[in-house]
Order: sequence, then C-alpha cells, then structure tokens
Amino acid sequence: MVDTRLYSNLQFLQKFNRFALNNLLVMNNQINIFQEKLNSCFLNLELIKLILSNKRIVGSDLKSIIITAVKLKAGMRWSFVYRHQTKDITKNFETVEAISLINAALENDFLNADLFTTNETIQITHNSKGEVKLKTTPANQIIVPSFSHDKVKNRLIALENNIYLRELGVVNSNWQLKKEMADKYVQINKYIELLEPEIRELPEKENLDIVDMGSGKGYLTFALYDYLTNKLNFKANITGIEFRQDMVDLSNQIAKNAGFENLKFEQGTIEKSNLKKVDILIALHACDTATDEAIFKGISSNASLIVCAPCCHKQIRKEMSITSKLCAITKHGILEERTAETITDGLRALIMEAFGYKTKVFEFISGEHTPKNVMIIGRKMTAPVDKEKILNEISKIKLMFGIKTHQLEVLLNI
Ligand SMILES: C[S@@+](CC[C@H](N)C(=O)[O-])C[C@H]1O[C@@H](n2cnc3c(N)ncnc32)[C@H](O)[C@@H]1O
Repeated sequence: MVDTRLYSNLQFLQKFNRFALNNLLVMNNQINIFQEKLNSCFLNLELIKLILSNKRIVGSDLKSIIITAVKLKAGMRWSFVYRHQTKDITKNFETVEAISLINAALENDFLNADLFTTNETIQITHNSKGEVKLKTTPANQIIVPSFSHDKVKNRLIALENNIYLRELGVVNSNWQLKKEMADKYVQINKYIELLEPEIRELPEKENLDIVDMGSGKGYLTFALYDYLTNKLNFKANITGIEFRQDMVDLSNQIAKNAGFENLKFEQGTIEKSNLKKVDILIALHACDTATDEAIFKGISSNASLIVCAPCCHKQIRKEMSITSKLCAITKHGILEERTAETITDGLRALIMEAFGYKTKVFEFISGEHTPKNVMIIGRKMTAPVDKEKILNEISKIKLMFGIKTHQLEVLLNI
C-alpha cells in the first residue's frame, strides 16, 4: 500500500528540486552571459569602463574597483584602480590575468558589476539571497575607449571623449581644449580638487542629494556629477536651479546626451526654491544677495555641506558707513570695495558658525583666472555652539563698519 503522506512529500521534494535546479541554471546562465560579454569586450578592446562595487563583506576597506584600458610602452594593459576608504591603488594587468581577477573579485568581494562597452551597458547584481540579475541596455554615451596612459594624469576632469565639455564648447571636436576656455577648465578642475576631500568626509550615505543654486550653463555642475558618479563611484542626484529657461533647456539636453541620468536642471529662483532633502548646497558666483538666499536655504534645510563662491557684494557696500579712522583707507574706492567684500563674506561665515557650521574661507582659484575667487565652505557640526557669543561678535563688527543689516541675518530672522 502506498503511504500517501510520504508520496506527497516526495512530490513536493521533486518539485522543489526542479525549482532550485531551474534557478541555478538561470543564475549560471546569467553569469555565463556576463562572462562572455566581459571576455568579448576585453578581447575586442571595446571596454570603456568596468566598475565592481557593493562589497560583499561589510567591514571591507576596499570600496570598489574601476577597470579601464591603458596603453603602456610594454603594450596594452588593463588598469585596475582599487578604491579604498582613504586611498586609491592602481595596478596594471595583462588580459588573461585581468579577467581572472575580475571573476574572483565578483565571486568573493563584490555583488555588482557595471560593464560599459562601446555598444552596451551590462549590469550584473547579486542579492543577499544569492539571486543574480543581468540587465543589458544600449550604450547611452557615444564614446570611444581611450587607451592613452595618463595624458590626463593630473587632470581630474579629462578632456578626451568628454561629451559635456564638447557641448559646452570647452573642447573642440578633436577633444582639444579651446584656448579661450583654458581658464574655465582650470576652474573646473580646481573646483573638483577642492570639493573631493570635503565630500569624502561626509557621513557615508547611499545617495547624495545635491542642489546647485544659480547653475548657469552648468560647467561646474556637470563636472561634479561626472566626477562623483564616474570617478568616485558615488550615487548622486544633482539638481541645478537656474533662473534662465534657455540655460535650463540647454543643460538638460547636454545631461541627456552625456547619459547623466540623475542630473537635472529646473527653472526657478533661489528664493522660491523648495528644498526638502539636501546634503550639499552649492552656490557659485550667484550675484550679490543671491548668495545669502542660497546660504539661507542651505541652513534651513540643514545641509551637511554648504559651498559658495560669492560674486559681487553690493548690499554691504551700500550699507557701510565708516566714521572711524578706517576712513583714511576706505576713501580709496578700490579699498572700500575690497573691505565690503571682506566684511560681507566674513559675516556670512560667522553667521553660518552661529548656526552650527564649521567654516573655511579661502582662495578658490588664483585671481589671474577670475576676480571672483573666494570660496566659503561650511560643514554642519553636531557639537553645540555658543550662538549668543557669535551673534555678539557680529553686532560689534557691524557697528565698526556702520552696517545696520546683513541680508543673511534678515533672512534668518536674527
Ligand atoms: C555668474 S552665473 C554663475 C553660473 C555657475 N554657478 C558658475 O559658477 O559657473 C550666475 C547664474 O545664476 C543665475 N541666477 C542669478 N540669480 C538667481 C536667482 N535668484 N535664482 C536663480 N538663478 C539665479 C543667473 O541667471 C546666472 O545664470
């Protein structure tokens, strides 16, 4: 006689095994497809970039590996940039070794791989249950792999194959820097160089929300998005807020052409912008009190980092009424102007400090490239501050220069 319970258990087990076997086959199949694509793009020199990320071991110091092609005197090699918490290590390998290292890293160290080839983008992800997903999309950037060994060594933002720099008119169709854009290019690189350590110091977050107030044509906004997402391998949403619709349309078009999915530009004013969640608030060269409006938005939305490079300083210059011996100096127009700049930005930094930000004021870029060369960075601290004491200092300074109000104070209602 058949034991019906045993029979149904057997049936269940058979079904389960079939299901598990199917899953295993699908999984192996996905991995095989990925490996074939990987081999093929390495052998045909179609690799633009491979990023291994999402570490399997939470405590591991190795955050990601970025692999690109490089042409050395010894021949073609694959450059592996091992990105650790505080340092990057670069090693070059030949093809067979490179592929075997990638397979081992995917098996042991990382859950995700993003393979960018000249034809397509292939993404493989493993979830915590060991399931594997493969997603293939057509290449979203018209780009050719660059094998040159660090002609771009000291430049954080490369010129070659840089679609947004071409569309913004910084490079020509041969990826050469246009003479008249040399200063802009210096500024872009300096900006990234200054911001990188500040951003690395932010508390680790899955996704950074960044707002760029008065983004203009977006030179610096594009470069920041490019560097954060493509070089540092961060996830970031950047929104540029710009008053001029023509610039917004142009920038959105360029972002689309460059394949920058999470970079968008919105028409609007700094004053009326409604910020919900912002980690980094940026305002570069926003005129006069527009900088105060931007800092105000940063403080009110509790941004972790506020970065601004003020433009002109009309409000305080008009307000200043110096009656002390300093008159002997500020009677010279240029010195009065520089005093107004110093006082405006000095007070901005102090007001930020009163609201719990640790500040730095320094030269953004040397005066030979642009006269607008001061940068203020405020980092939100958790330690309490003696607000009253700082506000007192501010009052005394204002008195010295005959200033009744600073626009940032007005906005913050202090
Ligand atoms: C001098 S440009 C700087 C552009 C860019 N941030 C840079 O540094 O390259 C200033 C930009 O801010 C925009 N702007 C000025 N005041 C603004 C406001 N209140 N709201 C939104 N945009 C503003 C202007 O239209 C202009 O495009």
